[in-house]
Amino acid sequence: MILAIESVSHRIIDGDSHRLLLANLSLTVARGECVALMGESGSGKTTLLNLIAGLEPIQQGNIKVADLWLKQASDKQLSGLRKKYIGIIFQQFNLLSSLSVKDNIEFSAKLSGRFNKAHGLGLANELGLTSLLTKYPATLSQGEMQRVAIARALNAGPQLLLADEPTGNLDKNNSEHVVDQLIKLAKLNNAALLMVTHSAEVACRMDKIYRIVDGSLTLHQG
Ligand SMILES: Nc1ncnc2c1ncn2[C@@H]1O[C@H](COP(=O)(O)OP(=O)(O)O)[C@@H](O)[C@H]1O
Ligand SMILES: [Mg+2]
Repeated sequence: MILAIESVSHRIIDGDSHRLLLANLSLTVARGECVALMGESGSGKTTLLNLIAGLEPIQQGNIKVADLWLKQASDKQLSGLRKKYIGIIFQQFNLLSSLSVKDNIEFSAKLSGRFNKAHGLGLANELGLTSLLTKYPATLSQGEMQRVAIARALNAGPQLLLADEPTGNLDKNNSEHVVDQLIKLAKLNNAALLMVTHSAEVACRMDKIYRIVDGSLTLHQG
């Protein structure tokens, strides 16, 4: 398993009171598996992705990515894990504004030690970014930024791809196309894909659909 979440609970402070956001939540995802994560706004989807990426400390339970148990891991181990194994497509893209589209796409691949110029250009082509390579993020539309963020994450060859509403800014046709590309490329690289989405149509293209309800996961069959 590339990802194993074991009985994770997570409490947040909400004004004067505490709220149990994630309650004893468990999940395993294998390489090559594409999993949709749904749930109402505020149900803890982004928090769960942050916990998996080692960007937020685990309070209770544990999470294993590749062979690393995150709760016991040092900051250095966590950043090494992110560079080598995890691709993140953030809800707000987090593109580097001082770098061109091409340099953004190459950035994470260079960090991961898997930089290959032709591979990056191929991904850019697949995602319709070839004519934008010399542009800077500030000049792009939301949908273009989203596709750059996807190309950047995929270019590093991660075994685990975390995508937070990667089609939130795309119209229906574009979002189906981008999701199909993401799934195709994840399968091609034998990577696991965990994707937060609000779209039932997008979720249906994935192998499994989970929903966070009251802090726990329910699996949607069929
Ligand atoms: N660091 C934090 N401290 C306190 N509350 C937080 C923190 N991060 C998120 N929250 C709250 O946790 C809840 C879940 O947030 P989030 O994981 O972003 O939900 P989702 O992505 O499902 O919309 C929200 O109510 C949010 O306000
Ligand atoms: Mg969110």
